[in-house]
Amino acid sequence: MLIELEKVTKIYNRGNPNEVTALHDVSLQVRQGSMVCLQGASGSGKSTLLAIIGCVFPPTSGRAAIAGKKLSRMPDRFLTKHRRETIGFIFQQFNILPRLSVLDNITLPLLPLGISPAERKKRARKLMEQLAIGHKEYFPAGQISGGEMQRVAIARALINNPPIILADEPTAHLDSHLSMEFMQVMADLKSGGKTIIIASHDSLVSGHPALDTIISIRDGRVHVP
Ligand SMILES: Nc1ncnc2c1ncn2[C@@H]1O[C@H](COP(=O)(O)OP(=O)(O)OP(=O)(O)O)[C@@H](O)[C@H]1O
Ligand SMILES: [Mg+2]
Repeated sequence: MLIELEKVTKIYNRGNPNEVTALHDVSLQVRQGSMVCLQGASGSGKSTLLAIIGCVFPPTSGRAAIAGKKLSRMPDRFLTKHRRETIGFIFQQFNILPRLSVLDNITLPLLPLGISPAERKKRARKLMEQLAIGHKEYFPAGQISGGEMQRVAIARALINNPPIILADEPTAHLDSHLSMEFMQVMADLKSGGKTIIIASHDSLVSGHPALDTIISIRDGRVHVP
């Protein structure tokens, strides 16, 4: 299994009056090459679960193994390294830096990896071609369309060639045409062997033919079908 969680609990602000248990004893497995939709009401723990799978922070308790590494025993800097090598993240607001060019936005995740500028550009150009944004390479990312921004976000998530792609409400700001286009890109990535988890309550996501599983989360507890 590429992703394996066993009784994962995440408590924010433990021991403080504002303590929140965001995940309770979550156990789940995701096979390599599968596409999963994560569904649940606002505050149910979707983003927290993506953050654990995405190696942003380890669980408070329980076991999480992501791409063969156990998170709970990992010191912070190894967690960061593992995240940079293993995870591509696509956010709801795309988290694009508007003043930077499309090219510089896409190559951002490669900066800490010590990859040469020529190699960074080469990799980015290939992705920009695939995603049909090559003609916007030098545009400030704040001056392109919403659909193009979304493809910049996808390219940035893919630039380090991660085996796992995580997307948090990626279609929330897209019309249905662009949402379908997004799902087509995800389906193609799945065909290429990537493992994809999308937190979404968009029926265009949960009803997509390329989807393998829907995982429902309620008050931090997961119901695996
Ligand atoms: N950094 C944080 N510090 C403290 N509590 C947090 C933090 N992030 C999330 N929470 C709390 O943890 C619970 C789960 O939040 P989470 O963001 O995972 O939910 P979600 O399902 O992604 O919600 P939404 O659909 O609104 O994005 C909520 O009660 C939330 O208030
Ligand atoms: Mg969320």
